[in-house]
Amino acid sequence: MNTSGVGYPLGSDPSEFERLNRQGRILAAATRTILEAGGILPGMRVLDLGSGTGELSFVAAGLVGASGAVIGVGHG
Ligand SMILES: C[S@@+](CC[C@H](N)C(=O)[O-])C[C@H]1O[C@@H](n2cnc3c(N)ncnc32)[C@H](O)[C@@H]1O
Repeated sequence: MNTSGVGYPLGSDPSEFERLNRQGRILAAATRTILEAGGILPGMRVLDLGSGTGELSFVAAGLVGASGAVIGVGHG
């Protein structure tokens, strides 16, 4: 839910979701490196605000493992 009164400038149509998915795949290795450097470890709970299609959430889920949890909050 967008409560800011201002929409996301790039919109939420299928082409934007595909762009986010493609970007997430391209950046997955770098994203993982950044999350590791930020201290994300197995068992942690991660809140991904503005998760879009969840590409970063899935990378985070791989780091926290089955003993952790990731919640993504986004809107379409
Ligand atoms: C630049 S995209 C990044 C998406 C994702 N974090 C990624 O790395 O691929 C920003 C996302 O935040 C979402 N967003 C913007 N404002 C939001 C709000 N107020 N509440 C929930 N999601 C929001 C948009 O819909 C968009 O999907």
